[in-house]
Amino acid sequence: MGAQIIDGKAFAAKVRGQVAAHVARLKADHGITPGLAVVLIGEDPASQVYVRSKGKMTVEVGMASFEHKLDLDTSETDLLALIGQLNADLKVHGILVQLPLPKHLDEDLVINSIDPAKDVDGFHISNVGLLGTGQKSMVPCTPLGCLMMLREHHGSLSGMDAVVIGRSNIVGKPMAQLLLGDSCTVTIAHSRTKNLPDVVRRADIVVAAVGRAEMVPGDWIKPGATVIDVGINRIDAPEKGDGKTQLVGDVHFDSCAEVAGAITPVPGGVGPMTIACLLANTVTACCRSHGVDEPEGLTA
Ligand code: GUN
Repeated sequence: MGAQIIDGKAFAAKVRGQVAAHVARLKADHGITPGLAVVLIGEDPASQVYVRSKGKMTVEVGMASFEHKLDLDTSETDLLALIGQLNADLKVHGILVQLPLPKHLDEDLVINSIDPAKDVDGFHISNVGLLGTGQKSMVPCTPLGCLMMLREHHGSLSGMDAVVIGRSNIVGKPMAQLLLGDSCTVTIAHSRTKNLPDVVRRADIVVAAVGRAEMVPGDWIKPGATVIDVGINRIDAPEKGDGKTQLVGDVHFDSCAEVAGAITPVPGGVGPMTIACLLANTVTACCRSHGVDEPEGLTA
């Protein structure tokens, strides 16, 4: 294996440390405690795990955590009423509604009912528009985490060829905007892209965010390129025993690590950075709402 492993777990711990230090200063200097409200509808096991770990880390960095668990059949009216209350609550600086929502709820309507200043996911159309026009906004956590790791590894990204595989609103599109903001030449590839291997082979930076287990093999990677793997896919692992599963990314780690200059592992790469950036966004939102200095290096 030739590639340097980008340790997202260690970097996320460092970011959480910076967040904790800023939270402590906010308390000491201004008597303010940042608060994050997380809304979970239904009992999807994976979402429950995420929400629990978000709550735990929120408290660990000294912030207040408010969890709202609603029944699967919660009406849109009741959900919008809760979001209205959280928008008005001065103790709440960040609001996250865990996605995906049950089918009977209109995701766009729900997301756009969140106060954009408290939209720590950066999914509100106002924040999407601000990011797209290079203005100060709340930035989606996963792409922000990827950007931080790329900046940490490379310093400047200016002039690099970046290929983002995947065009989702949560990762692909905002990732492309952030890379463009850092002066990369950006291509967004997707399921209809012609000759995907050749497109990926041009890239100095590959960000894979498609949700298909190990779909990017090593022979698509330009020697020395940096590979950021956003995928989290659970696959069968019969060699570990009957019924056992294993987490893998969207890139085939072993073959890509042979050729890449640097690569993020799964688990322990992008995943921990996403939660760290959620905490960073909450502190940023809190500082902006109170008109006090926001932490440096924790936003785009
Ligand atoms: N579900 C999976 N990822 C995310 C995320 O980043 N934010 C929200 N709100 N829900 C998610």
